[in-house]
Formats: sequence, C-alpha cells, structure tokens
Amino acid sequence: MIKVMNISKRYGKLIALQDVSFTVNDGEVMGYVGLNGAGKTTTMEIIAGVTEPTSGDVEIEGHSVTKEKKEAVRNLGWVPELPIFEQDVKALDYFVYLAGFYGISKDEAKKKAEELFSALGLSGREKDKLKNYSQGMKKRFALAASMISDPKNFLFDEVLNGLDPEGIAFFRDLAIKLKKEGKAVLFSSHVLSELENIADRIVFIHKGRIIKEMTMEEIRKSASANAFRITLEKVDNEVMDIAKKYGNPKLQGNTIIIEGFNGDVAGLSSALSKYNIVDMGRVGSNLEEIFFKLIGERQ
Ligand SMILES: Nc1ncnc2c1ncn2[C@@H]1O[C@H](COP(=O)(O)OP(=O)(O)O)[C@@H](O)[C@H]1O
Ligand SMILES: [Mg+2]
Repeated sequence: MIKVMNISKRYGKLIALQDVSFTVNDGEVMGYVGLNGAGKTTTMEIIAGVTEPTSGDVEIEGHSVTKEKKEAVRNLGWVPELPIFEQDVKALDYFVYLAGFYGISKDEAKKKAEELFSALGLSGREKDKLKNYSQGMKKRFALAASMISDPKNFLFDEVLNGLDPEGIAFFRDLAIKLKKEGKAVLFSSHVLSELENIADRIVFIHKGRIIKEMTMEEIRKSASANAFRITLEKVDNEVMDIAKKYGNPKLQGNTIIIEGFNGDVAGLSSALSKYNIVDMGRVGSNLEEIFFKLIGERQ
C-alpha cells in the first residue's frame, strides 16, 4: 500500500504540488491523470524517495519515505518517466548485476531476463550496451528491472510511451496479473483510452492539486461517450447556438463539449472558423470526457 499524505513541493516560487493526498490500496491499479506539468512525475519522485517534499510524507508498507527511506523503498518498483542509463555495460549483464542486490542467482536472473526481455520486445538486444538503447528501450529495460525483486508496490510513470501495440497489450495483462497478486500500482498516463482498460480508480491532478478521485465504475456510469470537443480562442452566445445543431453542447471555459455528437466535423469547423479554433477532436473515451469536464470547470 502506498499512502500519500498531504505532500507539497515548492521549486523556488513555483508550487509544483499543494497538499496532495491519496492512497493506492493493495490489489489496485490507480490511474494518475493530469496535463503536462500538473505534477505527476514530481509526486512519483517524492514517493520513490529521490525528491524531498517541502511538507507532508509518504508511507510505503507503513514506512515513512522521509524518515525510513531504505525500508520504505525496499518494497517499491519504480519506472521513471525518463530513465537514465549511461552505463557502459551490456543490458543483460546489468540486469544480472541488479538482480544480485536482491540475492537472485545468476542463472535465475538470466531466466527471468529471458522472459521479461521477450515480453517487452527487447529480445536480441541483450548484448547491446544500455547507453546505446533508445529512450523507449531504456524505458522497457527499466520496467524489466523494476520487476526483478517482485516488489509489492509499483510506480509506472508514462510507461506506455515508447511501447508498440504489442507492448501495450503486454502491459494490460501485466496490470491484471499484478492486481491479482495483491500489488498496489500507481500508473500515470496521458493515453487515457488505454488507462481506462487498466485502472480501477483514477485520481485527477491539475496545477499541483488533486481535483477529483473516482472509481472506473463511476466514470463509466457518468460519461456519455461519443462526444466531440472543440476549443476556441474566444466564445460568445452565438457559438452555443451553432453547436446545438450538432448535439448537446456544454461550455467549459473556452472548450465546448458536444455530447451525443451527430453531424460532420468539417461543417462544424467551418461554422466556427471565425472564433479561431485552437484544438478539436473526438473525445475518445469516457475517461477523456470526464477529464476535460473537470479541468474545464477549473480554468
Ligand atoms: N527540478 C525542478 N525544478 C524546477 N521546477 C520543476 C522541477 N521539476 C519539475 N518542475 C516543475 O514542476 C511542475 C510539475 O512538473 P511534473 O511533475 O514533471 O509534471 P507532470 O509529470 O505532470 O508533467 C512543472 O511546472 C515543472 O516545470
Ligand atoms: Mg511527468
């Protein structure tokens, strides 16, 4: 279990996190959702004990990260957003070396490596040096490494980045497996449609604050799907009259979410062109729809 308790983080004048609290229970995948810069990576770095919170604390398996870091992170597998491996060593050798820290024999580590490297699309690259791996490969290697010691808790920071569809499917299965084994998984991703298939609960972060926590069940029930979103530079009353012709529009800040969208995208975009369209697209999933609603309410 990972318990995040009222953590705040300041970088000079910037408040990166403000009073963030949530708990990831055993047997649960918690999705961590927010725009770029919302504070997801900072939260994970604090949980992993590599960044100190300005205030607040985190408990992993009941151990305080600030006061008993060693005990706390012993039971944590962390896949960073941008893993750095500058080691001048071959991937497999480094994997075996890391396994040694956990008392895993060379033969056992090699067997484990074979299984994990293959599942993560790294087969055939075991003898490449880590410094020559691409960012995506480093990410997948970090993922393999995080699983060596079979920890009870995981932090996956944007792990779907750099994975092909096969890798994403691997991850979906892995999440289910970890859940069944009673692990606690915190999983950040901006691929919301995929997260929807993986997470049990979602915690939404916006500008360093937690704005909502929901179960996937609640998300499935409360969203209407099949919506279209369009963000304009400016809006007025006439905009909504135009949007009504295409479904049931709701205005959030400068973004219109049209639920039950029917009509053609080209027609809508030309009707609204004088408002300068900043961004538009189908809302691909319930989670995406709820996310845009939530942040729209807070702009
Ligand atoms: N080491 C740092 N020094 C200064 N500002 C930082 C540092 N790390 C992160 N930030 C800032 O903190 C905020 C949150 O960043 P981050 O946690 O990386 O967000 P996310 O992972 O959600 O994209 C951003 O405004 C970012 O620029
Ligand atoms: Mg990040």
